[in-house]
Amino acid sequence: MCRPDHFAVHYSINVWMDPARPVDRACALAQWDELRGTYEELGHRVHLLDPEPGLPDMVFAANGAFVVGDRALGARFRELVRADEAPAHRAWLETAGVAVTEPVAVNEGEGDFAWAGGRILAGAGFRSDPAAHTELAAVFGVPVVPLQLVDPRFYHLDTALAVLDATTIAYYPPAFSPASQAVLADLFPEAIVATEADALVLGLNAVSDGRHVVLATQARDLADAVARAGFEPVPVDVSELMKSGGGVKCATLELHAPHQEELS
Ligand code: ARG
Repeated sequence: MCRPDHFAVHYSINVWMDPARPVDRACALAQWDELRGTYEELGHRVHLLDPEPGLPDMVFAANGAFVVGDRALGARFRELVRADEAPAHRAWLETAGVAVTEPVAVNEGEGDFAWAGGRILAGAGFRSDPAAHTELAAVFGVPVVPLQLVDPRFYHLDTALAVLDATTIAYYPPAFSPASQAVLADLFPEAIVATEADALVLGLNAVSDGRHVVLATQARDLADAVARAGFEPVPVDVSELMKSGGGVKCATLELHAPHQEELS
């Protein structure tokens, strides 16, 4: 995670961002602290990336890479304003002993790529280039499932879909093309289907450890659905980050530990 010390909305690179609407940085910091504390209370270890001035979106650590085990595909941001975040992630990961492959095509890391039990769900349409999917397959040696995003409000895969465990996802189908909806329905027949209201509070921008699902407080029906499916919803309010189009998952780069057999 990366503290929102420099969080601001000075530019607009998604439909959520309105530079005319004030951002309360102190509130963002308090909410972020709460999120970090929540992970720690759940028994997770949180590593911190140093925030850099001039990079107001650096709090959205999920975009900095895609990491499984000791391998990562580095990020290449679509927008120049975020470009300098990629080398910061790369340096941190390398120090931690992760081998980082330098990307060729545009990709925004875990914003568009989700680890789903031995396969990677890979979004494209607004940010990551479909050409990045080939790079993912080459680095991780697992099947990559391309998914087409079609609604600008859900510009990253992680705004429209959350992986809860190896076989369960929660998602908002209309964010995907009809062909991608069919692929997801086929792969995940037991999926939790989110309401538009819960998708619009970025409820799907959630982080699951396979048991606890940390998600936006505002996504009440989704929390109920997650509980009915046997998970424990853990609500956290990150409403200030939503002014930039980000939520719980965006603020979290997960360092997935694969099972031995999952990576070739
Ligand atoms: N303002 C940021 C951007 O538009 C938000 C990034 C959200 N991150 C995510 N993983 N969806 O790039």
